Amino acid sequence: MFPINRPRRLRTSPQLRRMVRETTLTKSDLIYPLFAVPGQAIAKEVKSMPGVYQLSVDKIVEEAKEVYDLGIPAIILFGIPEDKDADATGAWHDCGIVQKAATAVKEAVPDLVVIADTCLCEYTSHGHCGYLQTGDLMGRVLNDPTLELLKKTAVSQAKAGADIIAPSGMMDGFVQAIRTGLDEAGYEDTPILSYAAKYASAYYGPFRDAAESTPQFGDRRTYQMDPGNSREALKEIALDIAEGADMLMVKPALAYMDIIWRVKEATNLPVAAYNVSGEYSMIKAAALNGWIDEERVVMETLTGFKRSGADLILTYHAKDAARWL
Ligand code: PBG
Ligand code: ZN
Repeated sequence: MFPINRPRRLRTSPQLRRMVRETTLTKSDLIYPLFAVPGQAIAKEVKSMPGVYQLSVDKIVEEAKEVYDLGIPAIILFGIPEDKDADATGAWHDCGIVQKAATAVKEAVPDLVVIADTCLCEYTSHGHCGYLQTGDLMGRVLNDPTLELLKKTAVSQAKAGADIIAPSGMMDGFVQAIRTGLDEAGYEDTPILSYAAKYASAYYGPFRDAAESTPQFGDRRTYQMDPGNSREALKEIALDIAEGADMLMVKPALAYMDIIWRVKEATNLPVAAYNVSGEYSMIKAAALNGWIDEERVVMETLTGFKRSGADLILTYHAKDAARWL
C-alpha cells in the first residue's frame, strides 16, 4: 500500500546527502583561461564578459599567482598580438605574446601548469584559423600549409615554457603535425590536449571580442563541426587518439553534454569540457540582473559537466568556483 522504496530516506540530512553524493567538483578539475596583450600595466575588461580582462604580461603574472594561491592547477593562455598578418607571425614568433607570457608565468609560478592554446585566428589579419587560398578559390582555408605554421607555433610555445599544447584549430592532421614537431625539437614529453570535438558555435561570440579574432568574412563552418553531429565527434576523437593526443576536449560544453558523455564512454583518456565564453556571459548577465543565484547556478553547471564525464573543466568561473569550494 505504502512505498517500500523511499529514495527520500537518503536525502533527509546534509550529512546523508554528502555521503551518497556521486559527483563532487574539486579545485583540481579547473583550468582558468587568460588573455595576454602587449604593453605594461594593462587590465582591460572585456565588454561582453564581465570579470574577464585582457592583461599585459606583468598583470598575467599577478593573476597567475592568485590563481595558483586559490588552488587551481592550470591556466590556458590566449594572445592578442601587436600586429596581425597573413602568415600569423605573432603566433609562432619566439617573441610572440603567448611565448612571453608563458615564460614569465613559469619563472614566477613554476608549479602552475601553463597550457598554450595553439591556433592562428588571433594572429591572422583575416581572423581565420589557417592560411587562406588566393586566386580563384580565394578565401578557402588551406589545411596542409596551415599545419606547417601550427607546428612552428607549438614548438615555440613549448620552447617558451608551455607545459601542455592545446591545438584548437580543427585542421585535419593537426595533432600528428605538432606531435612530430614537438618530438623533433626534443619535447617528446610535452602532452597534447586536443580540442578534438569543437563545434561551429554561436557561443564563441564574447571570446571573439576578448581575443579580437572574429573572422573578417564568412564563418568557421568549413573546419569546425556541425552542431547536429555526434557520431562525427567520435570519428574526430578516434583520429586524434591515433595521432597521439594525450587528452581530449569537447567544446562548447552546455549544449554538448551528450558529446562529453559519449567521448568519455569511448576512451580512457582524460576528457576536458570547455565552458565557453557565451555560456559564461549568459550566467553573468542573468546574475548581474539579479535573476539567478550566481554561486548556485555556477556550481550546479560545473558539477553537471563533471557528472556528464568531464575530468577537467576550462571555465572563466574558475576563480569564483575555487573560492566557493
Ligand atoms: C579559436 C578558439 C575559439 C575559442 C577558443 N579558441 C573559438 C573560435 O573563435 O572559433 C572559444 C573559447 C570561448 O568561446 O570561450 N581557435
Ligand atoms: Zn582558431
